[in-house]
Amino acid sequence: MSDSKLRKAVEEAKPVRVLAVTSGKGGVGKSNITLGLALALADQGKKVLIWDADLGLANTDVLLGVRTKYTIHDWLKGDKSLRDIVIEGPLGVKVLPAASGILELGEISQADKSRLIAEFEQWREDLDFLLIDTAAGIGQNVIFFNLIAQERLIVVTNEPTSLTDAYAVIKSLSVNHDQNQFYIVPNMVAGPKDAKGIFELLSNVTGQFLSKVSLDLAGYVPFDEAVPAAVRGQKPFYIKEPECPASQKIGDLARYLISKTPPGFGGGGLVLFLNRLVAGQRAVD
Ligand SMILES: Nc1ncnc2c1ncn2[C@@H]1O[C@H](COP(=O)(O)OP(=O)(O)O)[C@@H](O)[C@H]1O
Ligand SMILES: [Mg+2]
Repeated sequence: MSDSKLRKAVEEAKPVRVLAVTSGKGGVGKSNITLGLALALADQGKKVLIWDADLGLANTDVLLGVRTKYTIHDWLKGDKSLRDIVIEGPLGVKVLPAASGILELGEISQADKSRLIAEFEQWREDLDFLLIDTAAGIGQNVIFFNLIAQERLIVVTNEPTSLTDAYAVIKSLSVNHDQNQFYIVPNMVAGPKDAKGIFELLSNVTGQFLSKVSLDLAGYVPFDEAVPAAVRGQKPFYIKEPECPASQKIGDLARYLISKTPPGFGGGGLVLFLNRLVAGQRAVD
């Protein structure tokens, strides 16, 4: 797409917010928070698509208790449309299963790029939020999705390794890519004080070493037995136990995010995302 055409498309587009959910360390609750958040946003009237982008440990389908029939590879082969691939979850939440090798999109033909954009465009009226459940760490793929999203949310726990690894992700995105705004969501905490403590630890270090970075405590999720129980039962905790503390706080997080207007958000989040996506790895260089 030419620059002027892209600009026009961005201006005219229905606002779709594209938010990457990331962590420094694995196992901190990214997938559960992404799915819970998607459901809570849906509960509050928003239309949500989850892009499961954790290649190694993709598991949104497992959390939902549904089996993935197709992946983006079937789409690439040309056999299936995105609509065939997407899983319908509760409350109308859609899930695009793990797109392993998505970086290869940088290598796909111009025709396929156009096809991808066209198929997504058909969805635009049907979407308010695109949540990307990324892998953990500072791998190329994680950085890529964080760069092409407009908003970034980092999940942390109070384990020292989770905090230092979260710092490493923030540092990499800030120093190498000039991305400086992050929502922080402490997970598995004892309560609000604990969440605040984690947030302050992290913001003290970034304040000291990464002066451009601005962190926003967007909410927190308490440690809640209902979460692992729901994982075992393969039913999202937000659906199975809507009144449990984790569901309540996820609801607050959704409300908070809805109340925020992301910086520089002109309405074309999805258009920009797709254009950067099909530009592939070059977006990272
Ligand atoms: N708030 C929570 N309270 C209790 N256990 C949790 C909570 N959040 C996540 N877990 C547990 O932590 C494990 C890892 O969660 P998961 O969402 O798969 O992490 P990630 O996607 O970051 O690897 C899961 O088994 C889940 O049950
Ligand atoms: Mg995960």
